[in-house]
Amino acid sequence: MSKYHKEIERRRTFAIISHPDAGKTTLTEKFLLFGGAIQVAGAVKSNKIKKHATSDFMEIERQRGISVATSVMSFEYNGILINLLDTPGHKDFAEDTYRTLTAVDSVILVVDSVNGVEDQTRRLMEVCRMRDTPVIVFINKMDRDGKNRFDLLEEIEKELKISLHPMSWPINSGKDFKGVYNLHDKNLLLFSANTKANEEDSLAISDVNDPVLNQLLGDTDAAQLREDVELVETVHGQLQIEEYLAGKIAPVFFGSAINNFGVKEMLDTFIGIAPTPRSRETTARKVDVEEDKLSGFVFKIHANLDPKHRDRIAFFRVCSGRFERNKYFHHVRLDKDVRFSNPYSFMARDKSIIEDAYAGDVVGLFDTGNFKIGDTLTEGEDFYFTGIPSFSPEIFKEVVNKDPMKTKQLEKGLMQLTDEGVAQLFTQFGGNKKIIGCVGELQFEVIQYRLLHEYGASVVFNSLPFFKACWLTSNDPKKLEDFGRFKQANIAEDKDGHMVYLGQSEWFLNTERANNPDIEFHFTSEIH
Ligand code: G4P
Repeated sequence: MSKYHKEIERRRTFAIISHPDAGKTTLTEKFLLFGGAIQVAGAVKSNKIKKHATSDFMEIERQRGISVATSVMSFEYNGILINLLDTPGHKDFAEDTYRTLTAVDSVILVVDSVNGVEDQTRRLMEVCRMRDTPVIVFINKMDRDGKNRFDLLEEIEKELKISLHPMSWPINSGKDFKGVYNLHDKNLLLFSANTKANEEDSLAISDVNDPVLNQLLGDTDAAQLREDVELVETVHGQLQIEEYLAGKIAPVFFGSAINNFGVKEMLDTFIGIAPTPRSRETTARKVDVEEDKLSGFVFKIHANLDPKHRDRIAFFRVCSGRFERNKYFHHVRLDKDVRFSNPYSFMARDKSIIEDAYAGDVVGLFDTGNFKIGDTLTEGEDFYFTGIPSFSPEIFKEVVNKDPMKTKQLEKGLMQLTDEGVAQLFTQFGGNKKIIGCVGELQFEVIQYRLLHEYGASVVFNSLPFFKACWLTSNDPKKLEDFGRFKQANIAEDKDGHMVYLGQSEWFLNTERANNPDIEFHFTSEIH
């Protein structure tokens, strides 16, 4: 057992994920209120990018800037240290979110009871499933007339390909919403619309057959609740914690974040069952979370908004051992020892310099260009953490240099911005065409602006007719080489020299796949 065992055991590192507008920001804020990290609602400017700003990327960058401070929110609750990693809701920054999910040990997924499963929810869950991340579901906005709860659960199970286990059961919804019955503790939480509440009072009842239910809910609702509960209990039985920890079953809570209803109930269960920091696979071996030596990786890089200072903040997730200020650690990719005099942690809105950090923590490191996503720090060993994916971009554009005198600056800018994970860079085979791939149009504006203002390089973009990039592998190198030669116009190399097929359409992609059974087409690529 590690000498840091106690520190590891009391940490829970997770993210709240949702389709925009489902209530992630509101729920985050309620958590912070319970953790005492903020005193009043409305104090947190989360990563939320306001809807009206979607056409104004400078505004978005400004808001992203504000959100650096809330990228990680650490607070204590009942003796547990909670690291809540924020994720941008805007779909154009989805890759940031996907990568943040590699740094957490579990997630809470917020689903809007009116809208049910939405686009982003589906994608985010795919990433969780890739890593078997344990998930708790919070069905929000029960104060609104939502879908039938049985239908909603079925929809979530089917669409998100996960089995659900209700922990609480709602009594009606919308204006008739009366509260939730806790299936585990067998108590009743009566709903009252109160956006300022920061306490929840549950009523102890002996079980669902307690006659007091009829007084509290009326005969009809009490009877309906008994019927529902019997059905739910017969179907689901007891929650098997191991199945939750294996990412196979997701406990479900119903509530209303804005009214602070059902939130504390979920938070209490969360700290009871959510996983502590876990051991992780690397390119060399599995790193046990209890090892005494430091290891960890960079999962996100955020640029400084001041163009005069090109420094950045690298977000480093500690996976084992102890991170210490001013101690030398081994930067594996650069094969160099580095130390940090001002590492900081994030306590709600304030950044503060820290002396040390343990597995599960996220440390902000000032960086002048030494880090890229996936970089590892150790105490001497050489390995990289695996499972940090790059996803296929969806929009591709050729970079056209408008100022040949600034070619060097452009190259440097492109390298650094793509190291940050703003976009992916490809080089077309047989030519030198530089291609930028992104998930959203906004990133092209961001790149163009930053290349000009930070590197003095002026570019325009030419749209390319591709819709997906697939990384290619084959057991037969000759087949891969031939394919590359025949399909030159569609072949490029990513930054690490991996061969990529750029498909014009689903049809082309499927045809190539069918014609080339010895070649595998992958929609994601592991950074290591
Ligand atoms: P997001 O971070 O997932 O994008 O969602 P956010 O928390 O910002 O919530 C989106 C909208 O839903 C907000 O209203 C918020 O007040 C509302 N909301 C959150 N929880 C509940 C709930 O339990 N019940 C109801 N009825 N509404 C809820 P908005 O008008 O878009 O924003 P705002 O002007 O209130 O900030």
